[in-house]
Amino acid sequence: MAVTYIIMGVSGSGKTTVGTLLAQQLSLPFYDADAFHSEANVAKMAAGIPLTDEDRLPWLQALQTAMGTWTEGAVLACSALKESYRRVLAEGHDVVWVYLKGSFKTILQRMEARNHFMKPELLQSQFDVLEPPSYGLHVEVSLPPQQLVSEIITNLGTMNTSAFGIIGMGVMGRSLAQNVVGHGFSLSVYNRWTEAEKDVIPSFLSKLNHPKLQGFTNLSAFVQSLTSPRKILLMIPAGSAVDTVLAEITPLLHPGDILMDGGNSHYKDTQRREKAMKDHGFHYMGLGISGGEQGALTGPSLMAGGASEAYQYIKAILESIAAKDIENQPCVSLLGTDGCGHYVKTLHNGIEYAEMQLLAEIYALLKPSLSYNEMAALFSEWNEGELQSFLLETTIRILRTKEHDGYVLDTILDVAQSKGTGAWSSHSALEQGIPANILMEAVMARAISSQKQQRSQLAQLLAPTPFSATIDTETLKQAYQFARILNHLQGLGLIQATAKAEGWELDIAEVVRIWSRGCILQSALLQQLYPLLQQTPNLWEEAPLVVQLSQKETAITEILLQAMEQRTPTPCLSAAYQYWLGMTKGNSAANLIQAQRDAFGAHTFKRIDDPEGESFTHQWNPHG
Ligand code: 6PG
Repeated sequence: MAVTYIIMGVSGSGKTTVGTLLAQQLSLPFYDADAFHSEANVAKMAAGIPLTDEDRLPWLQALQTAMGTWTEGAVLACSALKESYRRVLAEGHDVVWVYLKGSFKTILQRMEARNHFMKPELLQSQFDVLEPPSYGLHVEVSLPPQQLVSEIITNLGTMNTSAFGIIGMGVMGRSLAQNVVGHGFSLSVYNRWTEAEKDVIPSFLSKLNHPKLQGFTNLSAFVQSLTSPRKILLMIPAGSAVDTVLAEITPLLHPGDILMDGGNSHYKDTQRREKAMKDHGFHYMGLGISGGEQGALTGPSLMAGGASEAYQYIKAILESIAAKDIENQPCVSLLGTDGCGHYVKTLHNGIEYAEMQLLAEIYALLKPSLSYNEMAALFSEWNEGELQSFLLETTIRILRTKEHDGYVLDTILDVAQSKGTGAWSSHSALEQGIPANILMEAVMARAISSQKQQRSQLAQLLAPTPFSATIDTETLKQAYQFARILNHLQGLGLIQATAKAEGWELDIAEVVRIWSRGCILQSALLQQLYPLLQQTPNLWEEAPLVVQLSQKETAITEILLQAMEQRTPTPCLSAAYQYWLGMTKGNSAANLIQAQRDAFGAHTFKRIDDPEGESFTHQWNPHG
């Protein structure tokens, strides 16, 4: 589509001069919007009567129609002071707005210098109606016209050239940007301009020094630097910042453009935003990104949610930058619609919380008998086999890290922080009524850790923990794997239940495949679970897996007994054991719960001989 460059601004800002020069430089025809007024409007203006919005509408519509006939593009000088006028003009056209901006004083002085007479009151009335655009190129009228035009040309030179855009140059944004450019895609990056962040873009550009990379602190110039449909990834903190950026960017976009949120957003926020963006004609995708800084740089795991129509446009880029699984397939997938990708990322983190807590419990159990070096050596052995994982490797690295004469780990306060995804996972389990007690205990363990002062006081009241026997590391290894399998089983089960409730056609095997490399959860266990899930989405139906778990029952029991003797809290190991016990009891004690509910509140119960049938209530004797 041919582009119309509309030079806008108040009377006296130099639209005609600048527009004529620009048209010459771009070898395009120049038009002055004033020439399109009806005779009635001309007569009114000649009589000094200001035009109303009703007078202007047919004029704007005539211009809009004329623009459709300017097949090679054009430069148009038009005041277009109000947003509503600009909407009429731009309808169905590719328009680049150039706003000649200047203060009242500057424009008045400029006109006086040119002997162009305009009463200050008239100029003031223009400023009164002016609604400066939050988009387009903004250029200062105080510059000499030639210089002003060359600034416009320079900025236009960056237009429609980048295949992808990233907003937010924090650690993750920078690493992803480097990954995108490293895979040969042209990229524009944007970071807002603040005094504190003023060096972010210049230093990133000079660090990468790549011909296909452009940096911006002006949002409209950033948007205009992208090819259509625009593909923009937001790498900004989850929460209100996302809504703020969406409000700023939507007036700059065209229908069909694609926005992606790469943060850890709550999936219900993503659903809400997707709906709102759809109403504007834009695509919105929630993109879960895992792998931390290193993953973002060398290959993250990417969990996408949104419309397949939009995904087709970003698939090639995402597949290039993603990690590759053992079959060399990219660890990225469109998992479902709207918030599905963000939900899966949330549960990835929920499982991550429990995996981290399990390692912390093992570290606590081993601490009385092994040095950090010995522990690291043991974990390295484990890491050679079925227990291999990124988190285990990270723990080994931590156990070996020294500063001066001591271990860094010993300098870190034992209060675990969190940003919310563990709590959201727990909340989702409660909402769906699906067991996820292992990850919930991990969230609670962080909450208990934050009661530092109270813990320290209470610890002083109690006698020191008595000596206990050394933990058998082979037994511990079995117990650890037992808990890990159950943790994954719970997390995946919760994803499946929510997907069903939300109407996402999610393939759970695909989730496990894209987690097998690149993300924080990547592990040999996920590689082991993938073929099983391809056969059945219900892992409890995998007989060999259940046998494997039952063979580890003795180990987990022994470890929990020893943990109690040591007075070492093991919430996640215990939760895994309790879950296993609960799931493997054909007859539970829940009949008593039902009886109690019925006895005090006539809440009814089902009978053993007709589980799917009628509900009954019993006339319980009040005196027993
Ligand atoms: C990842 C991580 C990442 C981040 C967690 C930490 O997958 O790359 O999960 O998203 O490390 O959000 O979460 P907490 O601060 O809540 O522990």
